[in-house]
Amino acid sequence: MRHLIDILDLSVPEIDDILALAENIIASPDDFADVCRRKKLATLFFEPSTRTRLSFEAAMYELGGNVLGFSEAQSSSASKGESVSDTIRIVSCYADIIAMRHPKEGAPMVASMKSGVPIINAGDGGHNHPTQTLTDLLTIRRELGDFSGLTVGLCGDLKFGRTVHSLIGAMSRYAGVKFVLISPDELRLPEYNRKEVLDAGNIAYAETASLEEAMPELDVLYMTRVQKERFFNEADYLRLRDSYILTPDKMALAKKDMRVLHPLPRVNEITVAVDEDPRAAYFRQALNGKYVRMALIMTLLGLTGKEN
Ligand code: NCD
Repeated sequence: MRHLIDILDLSVPEIDDILALAENIIASPDDFADVCRRKKLATLFFEPSTRTRLSFEAAMYELGGNVLGFSEAQSSSASKGESVSDTIRIVSCYADIIAMRHPKEGAPMVASMKSGVPIINAGDGGHNHPTQTLTDLLTIRRELGDFSGLTVGLCGDLKFGRTVHSLIGAMSRYAGVKFVLISPDELRLPEYNRKEVLDAGNIAYAETASLEEAMPELDVLYMTRVQKERFFNEADYLRLRDSYILTPDKMALAKKDMRVLHPLPRVNEITVAVDEDPRAAYFRQALNGKYVRMALIMTLLGLTGKEN
């Protein structure tokens, strides 16, 4: 049985297969309309979500399956004090696969040790968010082709931004990818990511506080929201939240074929005027999230398509 807790649980060829399957689904959705007939996905969201939960649910419906679950811890037995392990043991009696989001780092990993069905980490605290990374990779592939040799700027809250941690882990495995880490000093990429992923893998990267300076060399600009819910005090959040605001003026400094991604939700970090720029890929990215989750559900359930 396979789980997806960390993006590194998937090899590069496995990721490439999932992206290729997602492209097939986009090309011929009808071929996949019954693949998950009589299968059930449980979405257990102990933390708020719009895109991730709804795209998982839409994905399962489009595969002909069904969905059950909850969208806040308050409406589950967690509010009565039930442990994650017990909740998972129960839900794995009712569902064939589980997507789970939790504010505690490592909770999906603990869940996977107790589960009788595949667990997908749909975000654990400030740690990882592997299915967002699959979404990001599919988007970059569809927008720009190959990953090799790309210069990827990650901007904003690199400390608490779990999407950033997973994306760096995944893209570090493709040849010649270079990262530009753009953040205020307090929101730098955690040392464990810098040491264990970038330094250990001999990956080229630079750190800067200036988005304007970084802009001209980027092929991808990955904007992120300052993660309010992970701050210990509001004053720090208020001081840091508007560190970077992407505007059409700043877009004028970028390459003509650069792409802007954002996992969303955006708060203030991209002005709506940028939405009209063809290089703004974040709404296309949200759509890709549904297709790549279809491909992931099929892969973890061992389903390959038409012959099922
Ligand atoms: C991200 C998350 O939950 O980490 N959202 C998402 O899943 N698309 C990013 C964020 O909340 O800022």
